[in-house]
Amino acid sequence: MKRIAVMTSGGDAPGMNAAIRAVVRTGLEYEMEVYGIRQAYTGCLNGDFELLTSREVSGILQRGGTILQTARNEEFRTLQGQRRALRRLNEHGIEGLVVIGGDGSLRGALTLCQLGFPVVGVPGSIDNDIWGTDMSIGVDTALNTIIDALDRIRDTATSHQRAFLIEVMGRNCGYLALMAGILGGAELVITPEQHVSMDDVAQSLIDSYVRGKTHAVAVIAEGASYHVTELAAFLENRKDVGFEIRLSILGHIQRGGSPSAFDRRLASQLGMRAVEALRDGNTGVMVGMNGRQIQLVPLEEVTSQTREMTDSYYELARILSR
Ligand code: F6P
Repeated sequence: MKRIAVMTSGGDAPGMNAAIRAVVRTGLEYEMEVYGIRQAYTGCLNGDFELLTSREVSGILQRGGTILQTARNEEFRTLQGQRRALRRLNEHGIEGLVVIGGDGSLRGALTLCQLGFPVVGVPGSIDNDIWGTDMSIGVDTALNTIIDALDRIRDTATSHQRAFLIEVMGRNCGYLALMAGILGGAELVITPEQHVSMDDVAQSLIDSYVRGKTHAVAVIAEGASYHVTELAAFLENRKDVGFEIRLSILGHIQRGGSPSAFDRRLASQLGMRAVEALRDGNTGVMVGMNGRQIQLVPLEEVTSQTREMTDSYYELARILSR
């Protein structure tokens, strides 16, 4: 394989640049030309390809976001769009593609494989909802950002004896909420997977108040069955929870920032392994981390399974929140 391409797709995640750098430099090691595709499948459809040299990826290891930019594309979901993407790849003489992104992006990668094009996926998403890898690129950095925010909010919550409802990202997956709850010392965690009724939230805050806590923090995933503003209004109306209620939506600050040491390492290792997988003739796979081992997982498996969080983490969150 002499010419490959790389793209970042879906929501950006800290460490994507480190992965691009690893793909380019590993490709050069194996005497390949590496093209960057701008704006993911949109750039693929528009033929927005650029040859990346080693110098073009210098100084990006520590940068958040993605130098290749990213996009979510509707046209690529159609067979006609997929065929056009293939045509563009062929026009540029690309023989293999590395797709760095989340579950939707990896589904796109699988589609290209099913049409006969060699593709290897790299998990990049702060949500940590991708099957086949313990961690996706960006999760660790996002968690650190959230924990830092929780620590700051807890300071002011204690000063004013308030209860804070803090919304974190995660449309379908409560990994960030649950881990942030455990690592940030929250009193309550609400995820899309584990429903907590608004009455139970109120009761939990009352229990914290009665136990003499000076504050209470509830971490709520954005995909929870009610919106954080709705919950705040409900709690305020009850007037019996003890604490004053405030809410904070952390939003996209969770997606930015310089990648942590862990994310730089994960991105570098997975990026390198992705290129080696292509070189070795592996296609239709994602490179994932299983314990300390890098593994190749079929994209069909990755995109057809849901990553479940173990009950033991919910148990840990509950016990430590006393
Ligand atoms: O998938 C990553 C993610 O950050 C989700 O947690 C969040 O729901 C979504 O992307 C937000 O997407 P956008 O940046 O398009 O608003």
